Amino acid sequence: MSLVQIDETKCARDGLCARDCPMGLLEMAPGGPPREIPEAESTCLACGHCAAICPTGALSLKGADPEQMPDGVRPRLAPEEVEQLLRTRRSVRVYKKEPVPRDVLRRVIESARWAPTATNRQGVNWLVVEDAEKVHRLAGMVVEGLRTIPYFTRAVQAWEEGQDMILRGAPHVLVAHAATDGFDPAIDSAIGMTYIELAAHAHGLGTCWAGVLMAAARLKREIPKFLEIPEKHKICAAMMIGYPEHEYKRIPARNELNVRLL
Ligand SMILES: Cc1cc2nc3c(=O)[nH]c(=O)nc-3n(C[C@H](O)[C@H](O)[C@H](O)COP(=O)(O)O)c2cc1C
Repeated sequence: MSLVQIDETKCARDGLCARDCPMGLLEMAPGGPPREIPEAESTCLACGHCAAICPTGALSLKGADPEQMPDGVRPRLAPEEVEQLLRTRRSVRVYKKEPVPRDVLRRVIESARWAPTATNRQGVNWLVVEDAEKVHRLAGMVVEGLRTIPYFTRAVQAWEEGQDMILRGAPHVLVAHAATDGFDPAIDSAIGMTYIELAAHAHGLGTCWAGVLMAAARLKREIPKFLEIPEKHKICAAMMIGYPEHEYKRIPARNELNVRLL
């Protein structure tokens, strides 16, 4: 079967699919419907833009029925609403003990499916440390990994006194891991995690990046082992997630951006 099938009775011959294809794999025959170039099959990113952009639903990619594709029209959200969502996201460091229902966690994590990935590779693996007891054990391993580093003296001391400054008593931790040989998996993971973080905020959940866990995982083999990270994978991002204990009443100040026009 060829990569794309065109319903010629529906095709408006507008050339949108050909213009939007990131790899230039479709060409418009004069007056005719689009056709794929010979190397299309081996080069296609499977990004689905050709089918998504077609106003008449004339194009099927890899046999997928365009009628079955979900509505892709941009919601009419006020820019102010989106800006307020972005600006009110905070790194949450005090969590309720209450676990997040699995279906809510799943829904929030699902957002990462629509995050951009280099060459549409979608190669990030997501691990949810769901069990609060395991999260606590993980925090303990991080403390052991960082014990000798002066910067973490306070966090280590707090741990000895029964206070978790590492994973902040969050009920869950989310870890992104990917194959080390891939093209910049850390960027794909960070973008995916950012999607999740914002989706979590929209659901009333709190999150905080766990950079300390990421750093300790590089120093202490026990951590990736405990998390059952495959040998050829690396931990690219980690984040605490749970219901926040408190609300932020104000948006903290931030530096002016350093923006240049050229
Ligand atoms: C990559 C990354 C790693 C981070 N690691 C930690 C961490 O280990 N512990 C922590 O409490 N906050 C961590 N943070 C949160 C930052 O401290 C926080 O984003 C910053 O202070 C701004 O606050 P805000 O997120 O509430 O706007 C991390 C943030 C990023 C982006």
